[in-house]
Amino acid sequence: MTQVSIGSISDFPEATPTRVEADGTALCVIRVGDRIHAICDDCPHAEASLADGDFLAGDLEIECPLHGSAFNLVTGEPSEPPATEAVAVYAVTIDGDDVLVEV
Ligand code: FES
Repeated sequence: MTQVSIGSISDFPEATPTRVEADGTALCVIRVGDRIHAICDDCPHAEASLADGDFLAGDLEIECPLHGSAFNLVTGEPSEPPATEAVAVYAVTIDGDDVLVEV
């Protein structure tokens, strides 16, 4: 695992999924309040970009834009079919204004 800077806090508007490349890994990054979450951006069902999906604030999930599976930002688990596999979840550290992800 390597800790990689993916930008500053202001690069991530509240509740807006953003696709970021970190050391060759595509991430879906989203800021929720003072926390920033990072999950794998590729939906395991048919590889849509989760950053193009909707944030479901009540459940802390990202809904895939293609077929509607929703992935939890903390566990990576899907709560809705057709996806059955979890996406990877990456640890995020905020250091001052820097956002660091372990990939
Ligand atoms: S591509 Fe994401 S649910 Fe089908």
